Amino acid sequence: MITGHAMVCGVIGNPVGHSLSPLMHNFYGQALGLDYLYVPCHVENGRVEEAVEGAFALGFTGLNVTVPYKQQVMSCLADLDDSAKSIGAVNTLIRRGDGYVGYNTDADGLGRALKEHGMEIAGRRCILLGAGGAAKAAAYLLMREGAESVAVLNRSLEKAEMLAREMNEKAGRPLMRALPLDGWRQLEGDSYLAIQTTSVGMQPNAGRAVIEDRRFYEKISQAADAVYAPATTRFMEYVEAAGGEAINGLDMLIYQGIAALELWNPQVKVPWVVVAHVRQMLEERLHG
Ligand code: ATR
Repeated sequence: MITGHAMVCGVIGNPVGHSLSPLMHNFYGQALGLDYLYVPCHVENGRVEEAVEGAFALGFTGLNVTVPYKQQVMSCLADLDDSAKSIGAVNTLIRRGDGYVGYNTDADGLGRALKEHGMEIAGRRCILLGAGGAAKAAAYLLMREGAESVAVLNRSLEKAEMLAREMNEKAGRPLMRALPLDGWRQLEGDSYLAIQTTSVGMQPNAGRAVIEDRRFYEKISQAADAVYAPATTRFMEYVEAAGGEAINGLDMLIYQGIAALELWNPQVKVPWVVVAHVRQMLEERLHG
C-alpha cells in the first residue's frame, strides 16, 4: 500500500515510455510490501538540471537516469561514486543531505547475472565485443573482478583503443588489448568468457551477429549478450552451436534495477522467488 510516507523514486529520460523500470520497481514494491512508488518522468532536452533540482525539492529518494542524460546529469550532482567515474556515465542517483550522488549499477547488474549463471570472471581470459557505453560498464566489471586479460573487439578500432587505454590506466597493468572485429584470429586458446555489447542482433534488426564466422565461437565456453530482445540472439545461437553456454541481457537489466533498489533501501534484499516472478513478467511483456 502507498501512504503519505511513501518513498518516491523514478526514472528520467527522453523518451521514457519504453522503460521497463517502472514495471519492475512497482512490482518489487508490491511483492515486498514496501511503501514505495516509482514513477516515469519524461524530461525535455535542456531541462535535466531543473529536473534533478525539482526531484530533490520534491523529496525523491533516488532516480534512475536513462538515454540521453547518463552523461549530462553528471554536472548536476553533489558527488560521483567510483563506478560512475570509471564508466563515465550515471544511471542511478541517491539522495544525501546536499544533493544526489551518482552511481552506475550496470556493472553490478552484469556481475550478478554472470554469477547467477555460474560464469566466473576472476583469473579468466575474456572477450569484449563493442566499445560503447554498455562495453564500458562491462570493462569496468571485468577489471574490478580480476579478469586475467580482456580482448576488446570493435568495428571502430580507435574506440576500442581508447577504452583499453583508459581501463589499463585504471587497472595499472596491461589488462586489455584492442583489436578490430576480425582480430579474433589472433586470440590464443579457447574457453573464453565473452560479453557481447554491440547493438547488432537487437530487435528490429535481429538475425545477425557482430561476427558471423562460426570458427570464432569455438573459442568461447561461456557468453553473455547484453541484448534481451529477441530472447535468443544470433550471437547466442552461434555460441551454443559451438558447444558453449549463453545468456541474454534480461538478467543484467533485472539486476541493475535490483542494485538501485538496494542502494535506495539498504535493508531490502530481493529474494530469488521475486526475481523469478519479475523475469517471467518481463518475458511475457517482451516476447508474448
Ligand atoms: P551502447 O551505449 O548501447 O553501448 P553505443 O555507445 O552506441 O551504444 O555503442 C554501440 C556499439 O555497437 C559500438 O561498439 C558500435 O561499434 P562502433 O564503435 O564501431 O560504432 C557497435 N555497433 C553498432 N552497429 C554496429 C554494426 N553494424 N557492426 C558492428 N558494430 C556495431
